[in-house]
Amino acid sequence: MMIGGVIIRSINLLLFLSLLRVSSAVPSAAGFNLSTISFDEGYTPLFADFNIKLSDDRRSSNLLLNRYAGSGFISAKYYDYGFFSARIKLPGNYTAGVVVAFYTSNGDVWEKNHDELDIEFLGNIAGKPWRFQTNMYGNGSTNRGREERYKLWFDPTKDFHQYSILWTRNNIIFYVDDVPIREITRNEEMGGDYPSKPMSLYATIWDASSWATAGGRYSVKYEYEPFVSEFKDFVLEGCPVDPIEQVAGSTSAVDCLEQKAQLETRPFSQITPEGRKAMKWFRERYMYYSYCYDTRRYQVPPPECVIVPSEQERFKETGRLKFGSIPKRQRRKKGRGGRKQKSTNGIESNLQQAAM
Ligand SMILES: *[C@@H]1O[C@H](CO)[C@@H](O)[C@H](O)[C@H]1NC(C)=O
Ligand SMILES: *[C@@H]1O[C@H](CO)[C@@H](O)[C@H](O)[C@H]1NC(C)=O
Ligand SMILES: *[C@@H]1O[C@H](CO)[C@@H](O)[C@H](O)[C@H]1NC(C)=O
Repeated sequence: MMIGGVIIRSINLLLFLSLLRVSSAVPSAAGFNLSTISFDEGYTPLFADFNIKLSDDRRSSNLLLNRYAGSGFISAKYYDYGFFSARIKLPGNYTAGVVVAFYTSNGDVWEKNHDELDIEFLGNIAGKPWRFQTNMYGNGSTNRGREERYKLWFDPTKDFHQYSILWTRNNIIFYVDDVPIREITRNEEMGGDYPSKPMSLYATIWDASSWATAGGRYSVKYEYEPFVSEFKDFVLEGCPVDPIEQVAGSTSAVDCLEQKAQLETRPFSQITPEGRKAMKWFRERYMYYSYCYDTRRYQVPPPECVIVPSEQERFKETGRLKFGSIPKRQRRKKGRGGRKQKSTNGIESNLQQAAM
């Protein structure tokens, strides 16, 4: 009895210590040495200005979704690689069908072969947590969805948390606070699928009733309007350019070589051993979908995939956590009021249960 009790207590203690180690192993935000900018220094309204509410000091911005429209802002410039970050607080209570997106894209310049890096938060019914996904498209590779989906280790509606996208010539890292949650390392085989044309930063809130929550089973309920997402501590680092000149190789194109090299030496551009531990901790506990393990979609994982046995174990052979059968595909309708109505690549119906 005694011995059993001691063992259980020491297991608890070990668990406690290992949790403690993970949290103290996370690199500190101070290490990033980021300087924040005001809304006017970096951004401009994208749509539905009447639903964008700036603070008096213009260093934070609320985006509203109500029955008339969602809303969004965009960086005033395009960046030839960069680091894009903000502290965000998501709307609470019933938010099914609501999507808050923080992403880079150049779809307005290159409609057929755009690049995109996404963080998309997916609202939920009351009492169920928000989920989120990351995605990448390179040079119009939209036939190839690269989604990963996750839960969070905190309630994103209670406090502000920092969400960041790093994009260099060598790698892409998505961060939640100081935890690197996903890295895509460029390799030869990816070819043109690696984003390499200048992109703008977008922040939007919109109605994605047709797919955001449980594959579209729950819609936005406007009796709970407005849905308010709060943004502050904006960081925009990179080489600002005119995208057309840049790619056409015009003589007035800005040479960003120095800025690109500088970006690559910043503390957030490489993952430290502690960061790797935190990433592993996150991915093994909070990732519930990754296209890399989805053998129904990709018999051979796309070339950027790094198969990690401890992650793969969670997904068994199909890539679908806890899924037996594949439910019928659902017809997706266009959501209303938003600007970002792109396809979500057919994973939605398969993720119905997981999305809860
Ligand atoms: C932080 O960044 C500023 C410029 O943005 C630089 O002058 C300063 O030396 C940096 N501090 C550290 C500790 O790296
Ligand atoms: C949730 O709803 C309750 C009651 O309607 C309200 O008091 C509370 O402020 C809401 N919480 C959030 C985070 O919106
Ligand atoms: C990107 O796509 C365009 C149009 O399909 C193509 O001409 C170009 O070669 C591609 N770029 C790369 C780097 O693959």
